[in-house]
Amino acid sequence: MASIDLTKLIQENVRSLKPYIVENISCEVKLHANENPFSPTKELLALFATSLQKIQLNRYPDADSKKLKLAIANRHLVKTDNLVIGNGSDEIILLLLQVFCKEGDTIIIPDPTFTMYSIISQSLGIKTKTIPLDHNWDFNANELLEAAEKSKSRLIFLSYPNNPTGNCFSETEVRQVIEEFSGIVVIDEAYYDFSKKSFINEIKNHNNLVVLRSLSKIGLAALRVGFGVADPFIIQEINKVRLPYNSNALSQNFAEHIINNFTTVQNQIDYILKERNRVITELKKIESIYVFPTDSNFFLFKTEKSASDLFYHLMYNGILVRNLSSHPKLKNCLRVTVGNKNENDRFLLAVKEFVAN
Ligand SMILES: Cc1ncc(COP(=O)(O)O)c(C=O)c1O
Repeated sequence: MASIDLTKLIQENVRSLKPYIVENISCEVKLHANENPFSPTKELLALFATSLQKIQLNRYPDADSKKLKLAIANRHLVKTDNLVIGNGSDEIILLLLQVFCKEGDTIIIPDPTFTMYSIISQSLGIKTKTIPLDHNWDFNANELLEAAEKSKSRLIFLSYPNNPTGNCFSETEVRQVIEEFSGIVVIDEAYYDFSKKSFINEIKNHNNLVVLRSLSKIGLAALRVGFGVADPFIIQEINKVRLPYNSNALSQNFAEHIINNFTTVQNQIDYILKERNRVITELKKIESIYVFPTDSNFFLFKTEKSASDLFYHLMYNGILVRNLSSHPKLKNCLRVTVGNKNENDRFLLAVKEFVAN
């Protein structure tokens, strides 16, 4: 029986990593992961069911995701050779880091932002230089570019809108970064369907730009589908490190259906945006709460009372949100995904109960 010291075998980069905690607390109302509260519509489920009869589960999927790429290319007016499909957009973040960085390199990200940029980087031995966001959760392009030059960075990640703050950064600052940076700028538009602001049309003008999109926020989180849009040269290099069958047959097929039948999803998005405005209007009536402006299907808010106490109060009432208060810039802040009307009402009621006591 072998009993060796396994810790000695683990790479230092990995050993020092803290695992990404996915809250697995069973709450009836899940407002913590920025998902769509609605399942796909009946029409879409019927299409999925028909496809299920035809998909050959004993065969490998199309390694090039040709049909899905074609659907995306038609919808977003890009060419298929501008596209790479990922097992979630998280995978494309990993692929970009593999293509452009080597151990010891430094990437630039704003702070606070989506944590996977730094977690994946650290696992590859890549360092992260953070640029603190200002009180509007925005950044100064010159400052960012200076930091990038100093640390000889090749990669900048901008979440647009930014998770967890919810806002899109100033368009002029982002544009300056794309135009002046002599490395790769990744604009992560995971929440595009809610913000409607995009740099995708700039791909043809800037060969250092990569735009990421996700289907996780609009109803297919379980299937893990994301895509990247970039100059064909970048796509070719990504394809060298991408595993051959990274996107499975069901994900490719169902994603194709959702993209080709987008009006059903668009109705859900419109509903979520209306609900978002209603919930925020209600929360703003509470004096001890400050809601930050958002372009996403979630929003960040700050409480005068302890956010952790509110977090547990919500959880006690069966509502799970994201507690961000351990981040130095997000003291007493919680992030909430917009749910359906009933879920949002339960959330509002529990918050009102909390502030009244
Ligand atoms: C900004 C941002 N980018 C990427 C992702 C990952 O999305 P996916 O589910 O497509 O991997 C998320 C998920 O929360 C996100 O917030």
